[in-house]
Amino acid sequence: MKSLMVLFWMVMLVFYNADLMQCSVSYDRKALVINGQRRVLISGSIHYPRSTPDMWEDLIMKAKDGGVDVIDTYVFWNGHEPSPGNYHFEGRYDLVRFLKTVQKAGLYAHLRLGPYVCAEWNFGGFPVWLKYVPGISFRTDNEPFKMAMQGFTEKIVNLLKSHNLFESQGGPIILSQIENEYGKLRMKLGQEGYNYMSWAAHMALSTQTGVPWTMCKDDETPDPLINTCNGFYCHQFTPNKPYKPKLWTEAWTGWFTEFGGPKPQRPVQDLAFAVARFIQTGGTFVNYYMYHGGTNFGRTAGGPFITTSYDYDAPLDEYGLIRQPKYGHLKQLHKAIKLCEPALVSADPIVTHLGDQQQAYVFYPESGGCSAFLSNYDKESGVRVLFNNRHYSLPPWSISILPDCRNVVFNTAKVGEQTSHMEMLPSNVQIQSWESYNEDISALDNDGSTITARGLLEQINMTRDRTDYLWYKTSVHINSLESFFHGGELPTLIVGSAGHAVHVFLNGQLIGSAFGARKSRRFTFTQKVNVRPGTNKIALLSIAVGLQNVGGHFESWNTGILGPVVLHGLDQGKLDLSRKKWTYQIGLKGETMNLASPNGISSVEWMDSKIAVQEQQPLMWHKAYFDAPEGNEPLALDMRSMGKGQVWINGESIGRYWTTYATGECRRCSYTGRFQPPKCQVGCGKPSQRWYHVPRSWLKPTRNLIVLFEETGGDPTKISLVKRSMNTICAQVSETHRTIKSFQVENYGSTTQEFYIPKVHLQCAPNQHISSITFASFGTPVGTCGSFTEGSCHASTSNDVLEKKCLGKQSCAVSVTNSNFGKDPCPNVLKRLSVQALCAYSTN
Ligand code: GAL
Repeated sequence: MKSLMVLFWMVMLVFYNADLMQCSVSYDRKALVINGQRRVLISGSIHYPRSTPDMWEDLIMKAKDGGVDVIDTYVFWNGHEPSPGNYHFEGRYDLVRFLKTVQKAGLYAHLRLGPYVCAEWNFGGFPVWLKYVPGISFRTDNEPFKMAMQGFTEKIVNLLKSHNLFESQGGPIILSQIENEYGKLRMKLGQEGYNYMSWAAHMALSTQTGVPWTMCKDDETPDPLINTCNGFYCHQFTPNKPYKPKLWTEAWTGWFTEFGGPKPQRPVQDLAFAVARFIQTGGTFVNYYMYHGGTNFGRTAGGPFITTSYDYDAPLDEYGLIRQPKYGHLKQLHKAIKLCEPALVSADPIVTHLGDQQQAYVFYPESGGCSAFLSNYDKESGVRVLFNNRHYSLPPWSISILPDCRNVVFNTAKVGEQTSHMEMLPSNVQIQSWESYNEDISALDNDGSTITARGLLEQINMTRDRTDYLWYKTSVHINSLESFFHGGELPTLIVGSAGHAVHVFLNGQLIGSAFGARKSRRFTFTQKVNVRPGTNKIALLSIAVGLQNVGGHFESWNTGILGPVVLHGLDQGKLDLSRKKWTYQIGLKGETMNLASPNGISSVEWMDSKIAVQEQQPLMWHKAYFDAPEGNEPLALDMRSMGKGQVWINGESIGRYWTTYATGECRRCSYTGRFQPPKCQVGCGKPSQRWYHVPRSWLKPTRNLIVLFEETGGDPTKISLVKRSMNTICAQVSETHRTIKSFQVENYGSTTQEFYIPKVHLQCAPNQHISSITFASFGTPVGTCGSFTEGSCHASTSNDVLEKKCLGKQSCAVSVTNSNFGKDPCPNVLKRLSVQALCAYSTN
């Protein structure tokens, strides 16, 4: 009998476990279901190689504190398999450690395995060697591609399974994604595209992770995979089957920056509005892309022309610091959404019209109670609406959240959070003993490292992307009888390139450069050239600035000088050099000698930099040393004095730098109306990127080696190390709106709903306190953080009130009400409180 009982329990246990294996995460038409519970989940993208492992815990904990439940990351194939079968999971590529950090924080993970990831990442995440697998064609019904993709997918799934990282094994991964935004390409490719997409879905399922798979932006996603939405707004999205939940895998928090472009920003009021709108229409999963953008270290930036910074205007800035008011406002939004979670997961909304452009979405759960979202889509005007016999003021383009259908706990347009004013402050650390070395370009000579061929060769085929640089060198004989030597016009050199940049040298001198653009990679260098009688050496340094990461069959797109290369204006007319004998040198001599690494620097004779700097020499290597600055603020290099190149610290690549100035329109923008990246950009006329993140963990206390390779010329002695500091903070909050345009409603006369008391919140970093109030005005102050001034109405008590409540504290909250400031300084005027304060490090 006893043994029968044991058998019974063993069988039960097996069943129970089998159940767990399959059912710990599932989904239904409303939501993802985790351990039997439907969940509304807030997710944030943090890409592990875009920060250093010592930053991960802090980033993840900040995300958690910001109300994030899930950390989302792509998996970066080219980082993990640099050559076929040779895997790399160390340092920034330690995916297991990253996921364990997520688990330790008590958060879930969404693993976007791709392996195509787009992501403004070099070659969209594909290893470049993949392009050279015989017979391959990417992202279509092609055997060599499918075999490689399956190999990598299984490698990752097996690795993560061996660490029990899927939720079905007790791990954090609740969801995985295969492919990325395939829909458009599928339609273009027709049947082949469809076959590939179906194959990818089945291949993913066959890995048996025990958690659901998603595909984004493809309406044909086969069951049981969930098709999801990516975009600035996703409220109009519906999944392709009625039994799938409405998930948003990329809610873009900002946008990426290109060299030559300004910095896009997305107002948090609009982002919060988009998220609330998605939730009110039944959405139950929102992933912010990016929550922390980070840095494209090394040559990982996609392209061409994606900057090294991948800040993205995300809630956590490139350096991992909290960006306010974005972070705090979203945190409040998440709290409000969570208060509605029971209603959101159990009921469908009942929609009523409150006006032409106003709606109420009301969720009545069976368990009783109700939650409501009141929306105003009007871009211009705020309105008062009547809901449940109460009046509510809705600013333009905003949504109010009422978890109990009575009290507004959040409005997307009312930002009560402070603004953080990030500054790059001097670190007071000297970068010393600059020395330089001239990259030797004299050679047309064949020293064994060069290749000679007739005609122009494609760049990536030559370099396999092991370097950005490929030299194209040739010589041309010019007859001394040419008429331009005798008073005629100089000939013109034309160089056609398929991308991305070229520096042109004539007889050892840099005579000019030309660059493509992200959208039109092809470009032509055209310049009059002062050739001399006899032999002239033409040397073209062609430079890749990040490989294409998006577009149909981008693997087949060419890079480099593909011609024509022509000399116009000779007596014979034009001289086509394209089919001549060209000598190729892959990479720089300094790269071969490993000059960027502490072990390689002694392989050449360096000279005092002063000489190199005076002559503004191109193609220079520079090196110097510095001690690590004290403190723990993030560090950056100010590279404004330099042209274009790459920079390394202690052998670690900080990335590409390029002081190229942003063109475009930067206007003051309103948060209302549909957002598009050019709408709210900043930094026009300034360098697209001036500061380059130096991770603290790459530094030793003393004698850190900085090496850079400068392509065109600059002054390295002016490079400085700065600290990113949040010393100035600002906040501005209006008192309760009373003068908003009245909306015509029947049944007028019922009581007016008072909002929660608006408050100004100020908060310094955990180890800081508020050391002074540099501006405070309750009234009608004008200006923005850093340039506030008093308006015509000002309560003279403003400064005293703020000092009393806030000085010496790490954080404080001050009510924006007349009574708090003694008396109403100007009756019948809608007032606000603007404050600017300084944070200082606490001594103990
Ligand atoms: C999406 C893509 C992401 C990223 C984003 C722009 O379409 O899925 O990987 O490239 O655009 O930042």
